Amino acid sequence: MTDAWSERAKLYRTSKAHSEGADLDLVVEWAAGTNTALDVATGGGHVGRRLREAGLEVVTCDPSPGMAPDVICFAEDLPFADGSFDLAVTRVAAHHFADVGQAARELARVSRDRVIVVDTLYQGDDGEEAEALRDPSHVRNYSEAQWRGFFEGAGLTVDSISNGQLAMRRIALRGGLAA
Ligand SMILES: C[S@@+](CC[C@H](N)C(=O)[O-])C[C@H]1O[C@@H](n2cnc3c(N)ncnc32)[C@H](O)[C@@H]1O
Repeated sequence: MTDAWSERAKLYRTSKAHSEGADLDLVVEWAAGTNTALDVATGGGHVGRRLREAGLEVVTCDPSPGMAPDVICFAEDLPFADGSFDLAVTRVAAHHFADVGQAARELARVSRDRVIVVDTLYQGDDGEEAEALRDPSHVRNYSEAQWRGFFEGAGLTVDSISNGQLAMRRIALRGGLAA
């Protein structure tokens, strides 16, 4: 992928909105009990960093070489075998994905236990229009009901949710693989 994204790498690494926040703390909390994780759309690498600090073995991936991920790939087509990681996680990135349903299925496929998604929450069509004008790479934010649908469509049972209580009105969902 070129490289409007790679040019943003420094910003993502240093911005406070990405490098810290209650949602990042929540990801670490919800990862408790897992040993290996895949950080999808790692951007500035903050999820990977925090999970490593918590003792997990982490692989990062992102389609943009400038983000310096361990593996270059899209969320919709993860080059890992089924059940490769205890946890697959993606944070504040899904609103850039072309096909979120497919990405959710891929997260569920490569995980053997748990999936965590954090993203900005849908606030109405005006908000979407403003966001697309501000950031042409914005595809779409989704509501809680839509996110629940993506999890269900990926065979995941939502076991924890934080809706709009987090910084920048982010939603966080954790799901386990349905038996
Ligand atoms: C806002 S940054 C991610 C922030 C990071 N996860 C964090 O917690 O700070 C968005 C990232 O999504 C990546 N991206 C865009 N489209 C993607 C796709 N289809 N699949 C995976 N990553 C994608 C971009 O390269 C970029 O690094």
